[in-house]
Amino acid sequence: MEPIVDLQGKRILIVGASSGIGRAVAVLAAEVGAQCVLAARNEEKLAAVCREIGERACYRRMDLSHPECVEAVIEETVEESGPFDGAVYSAGVGTTLPLKNTTYAKIKEILDVNFFGYVEMIRVLSKKKYHNSGLSIVGISSAASLFGSKGKTAYCASKAAMDAASRSMAVELGEKHIRINTVRPSWVKTEMYESWKEQLAMSEYAQSRMKRQYLGIAEPEDIANAVVFLLSDAAKHMTGTSVSVDGGSTSC
Ligand SMILES: NC(=O)c1ccc[n+]([C@@H]2O[C@H](COP(=O)([O-])OP(=O)(O)OC[C@H]3O[C@@H](n4cnc5c(N)ncnc54)[C@H](OP(=O)(O)O)[C@@H]3O)[C@@H](O)[C@H]2O)c1
Repeated sequence: MEPIVDLQGKRILIVGASSGIGRAVAVLAAEVGAQCVLAARNEEKLAAVCREIGERACYRRMDLSHPECVEAVIEETVEESGPFDGAVYSAGVGTTLPLKNTTYAKIKEILDVNFFGYVEMIRVLSKKKYHNSGLSIVGISSAASLFGSKGKTAYCASKAAMDAASRSMAVELGEKHIRINTVRPSWVKTEMYESWKEQLAMSEYAQSRMKRQYLGIAEPEDIANAVVFLLSDAAKHMTGTSVSVDGGSTSC
């Protein structure tokens, strides 16, 4: 029997692939047959993930604090090795910022990476020359798009913006047979989670939210499974939606 999820022959761009969820997506996508182009800032980490994957991966440096750099990277990559069949946007910063420090400049800093880079990636990839028919795009959003937290005005807004913009872009690009979905994790064991741990331990609110994630803290691979499914033709009827992979946290 054919496997349900098969990315054989597909070229996938994974932005934010140097660690955490993006890294897990790259490893799994390559395992099920994809040729992966990894992007982020840290070249040492990117090279390490490429070595782990082998000949099915290569990398490009991309700094999303300047989202306008996305087009040049995609153009160069496509010229070199051909158009994409899928893309995942897992780049993000989990900055905690009390409202009194949430200036326009700081919000922009966070939204550049968490949101503007995402829209820019889709804007560029949707050009005919950069993709094959049936392009599937997955954004890594967050349960934070649905719940408020102290110090997370910009972060939560960036994730809600991702979900809302994905619905609109899915409608607009549907006639081009481009699918766009987001995956909404709650806490996942990655470097980002490690950076939050101390704060989480001190916050009663976070502790109560964490209890609601009754299946426990996710592994990056738990999120990658859903992402790779959405990239595949098995999800060909899914677009404009957000899939919660959150250990139950939004169910109670
Ligand atoms: N971990 C969680 O609990 C959790 C929960 C919900 C949602 N998420 C979301 O999941 C996504 C992935 O996060 P993660 O948990 O896997 O954390 P992570 O291990 O810290 O990964 C973040 C990724 O974003 C990249 N990145 C950050 N700033 C960048 C920039 N300016 N330009 C290019 N790439 C940049 C990093 O690469 P470089 O540093 O090499 O640039 C890295 O590859 C994020 O969008 C996050 O908001 C995470």
